[in-house]
Amino acid sequence: TATLPPRTQALIKSLESSTSGKFKLIQWRNEQRPTRNELLNLVQGASGVLCMLTDKIDGELIRAAGPQLKVVSTMSVGYDHINTKVLHENNILIGNTPGVLTNATSDIAALLLLGAARRAKEGVDAVENSKWGVWNPNWLLGVEFSGKTLGIVGLGGIGAATAARLIPFGFSKILYSGSRQHKEKEALLADIHRSVSNFNTSQGLSTDCFECKFVSTDLLIKESDVVILCCALNENTRMLINKSNINDFKQGGILINPARGPIVDPEALLHGLESNRLFAAGLDVTDPEPIKADDPLVSHPRCFIMPHLGSATVETREAMSDLALENLLAGVLGDKLTASV
Ligand code: GLV
Ligand code: GLV
Repeated sequence: TATLPPRTQALIKSLESSTSGKFKLIQWRNEQRPTRNELLNLVQGASGVLCMLTDKIDGELIRAAGPQLKVVSTMSVGYDHINTKVLHENNILIGNTPGVLTNATSDIAALLLLGAARRAKEGVDAVENSKWGVWNPNWLLGVEFSGKTLGIVGLGGIGAATAARLIPFGFSKILYSGSRQHKEKEALLADIHRSVSNFNTSQGLSTDCFECKFVSTDLLIKESDVVILCCALNENTRMLINKSNINDFKQGGILINPARGPIVDPEALLHGLESNRLFAAGLDVTDPEPIKADDPLVSHPRCFIMPHLGSATVETREAMSDLALENLLAGVLGDKLTASV
């Protein structure tokens, strides 16, 4: 489904001719996502389905497709919209797009943090709405990161790339949580700190004070100045940030969510901001999506929100659609998927 980039369309054409009419391709060409009923009708008789993260893939959908369905390929790294258990039980392969969007998504994480910490939303608002008066030494003061602690929930590809991008901003300690320790990444991150500190010692980046530690999420929340959520959404992470731990954040902490909206309870986040426990938040994802324009988080001056643009670069979207298509074709042809869940 969905409108694919021109390069991918060309790839589809050449594949259609190379499989010499063995497969019929049905493409959803509207800007709007198909409704549930449209989707259930579209998949009838399909051997493979290429979907987006907004398409719910579950038992009902695979029954609507029929027993010939072999593969579901999602153009996303996240697969919380897919009932993996039901698909696996029915021997349906699941493809996704890890790796190719790591750079773009960790760029957005860095953007959200800088935007939140330096009050970009209030600054832009001041410029656009004639609130920019005379230069004032006390106006719109943000915070910086030298000597501070960065907490990364989930040191997978995106988490590690985000940490790598942010170490040069001055963090002297990284705490990370998740399903396991990553010793190699710890060493690589220490290397980055070492090389950056060689020419930046005046910023407090001293070579001997860097630490990167695997801890529990509870401890990470309590001890980090900045918490960035880089984990998948699943039963363990749904509402991971909630009313009972929002007050455990460090006073003046910053929460960044480039992952999935439901990892954060929006009411708890609002409370964290309104009580000034949190200095700011940066979100690329919300619950629900899209978030309503009159939502109190949208109007909160220190909640910097982007509309799920983590992977939205020309390069990354092309790579994602190529990989999703590759997975789809491998699945229908009975080959091994390039990337699967
Ligand atoms: C985007 O959110 C993705 O999962 O690819
Ligand atoms: C800021 O613009 C300064 O000149 O200090």
